[in-house]
Amino acid sequence: MSRIDALHRSLAPSSWVKRFASKILLTGSVLDVACGAGRHTRLFLEQGHSVTAVDRDLSALADIRNERLTRIESDLETEPSWPLFGERFSGVIVTNYLHRPRLKDLVENVESSGYLIYETFAQGNQRFGKPTNPKYLLRSGELLELVRGALTVVSYEDIVVTKPKPAKIQRICALRERI
Ligand SMILES: C[S@@+](CC[C@H](N)C(=O)[O-])C[C@H]1O[C@@H](n2cnc3c(N)ncnc32)[C@H](O)[C@@H]1O
Repeated sequence: MSRIDALHRSLAPSSWVKRFASKILLTGSVLDVACGAGRHTRLFLEQGHSVTAVDRDLSALADIRNERLTRIESDLETEPSWPLFGERFSGVIVTNYLHRPRLKDLVENVESSGYLIYETFAQGNQRFGKPTNPKYLLRSGELLELVRGALTVVSYEDIVVTKPKPAKIQRICALRERI
């Protein structure tokens, strides 16, 4: 596990995710992508949701005993197809993870009246530290482009934060309107 992974594994839920968590209907389930130690998996289980947690290493969820939790241990970057293809969730949560080839699949996973909550590092983070590789940094406006024509933006930020450590991040909460 990298130092960044270790840091995120020990953290409280993201304030961005907490801010919008109550919008997500209890009738659907939540997908926590690249869940790490499951800080958001744990948050939504505590709220009463069913949660599908996906990561290439789910060992940090070993302590969770909850029948509302579905575990999918999968390398999302080597699988030939998206393991959640065709499934719909009332909330799709992604924090501190970016694999561009799957971004559109994640939007497809959002059900009607469901939300995408996404927060990760953005271009400009290089001056604060890792990640510095453009592969892992969102381009300006990239999350807005991602949801355009599919989801309605509830809130979006492209900012420098100081906590939990100084970083340049981009974050969005977006809704699939009911039609
Ligand atoms: C920085 S951690 C973020 C964890 C969590 N989302 C959070 O914010 O607390 C990145 C996570 O992505 C997972 N990950 C990295 N590459 C992956 C891959 N190819 N397939 C699945 N998970 C991956 C790592 O195992 C790690 O748990």
